[in-house]
Amino acid sequence: MSVLEILEIGHPVLREPARELTAEELASAEVQTLIDDMIETKRAANGAGLAAPQVGRSLRIAIAEVEPNNPRYPYKPPIPLTVLVNPVIEPLDEELAQINEGCLSVPGIRGEVPRHVNLAVRYLDRGGIEQGEVRHGLSAGTFQHEVDHLDGVLFVDRADPRTLSTWEQYERFYRDEFEARARALVESVGS
Ligand code: NI
Repeated sequence: MSVLEILEIGHPVLREPARELTAEELASAEVQTLIDDMIETKRAANGAGLAAPQVGRSLRIAIAEVEPNNPRYPYKPPIPLTVLVNPVIEPLDEELAQINEGCLSVPGIRGEVPRHVNLAVRYLDRGGIEQGEVRHGLSAGTFQHEVDHLDGVLFVDRADPRTLSTWEQYERFYRDEFEARARALVESVGS
């Protein structure tokens, strides 16, 4: 396995809608190796997720995984390693929450993004088996962020620009308030 280069905002691949994979492509050694490399790359960068366009592959593959005590996002409830192929997200209602997000492809910047609180996600796992789950709150936000990458969308597109901050200023001025809001969201809707 290898750690891949993570592309940064400004790279055109991050703005392309990625294409779906066929069952045959998903089963190929090349794509299975790409998935292994994406997992290793996500873990090396302490991300909560990583999408294939972020490593220069315009394919509908994303990883979501939050280990306990993730140093970038200590308030996020754990998400077991999930490999999403051709994922489809369906909001279950109109409820939105403002979530303060960062992104490995937008280094140094965070901002407040409105996200659906309750959603269903359907996808193929890396073995090509159809999976479906319901996600809430911060975990729902993570899945929306990753699927956005597959549509060429970055969190800064959805953030009120007046909420953007560097990570340093986030920690000085916003972290305590946001982490309290994040804990309240997890308590009220789960993950
Ligand atoms: Ni991202």
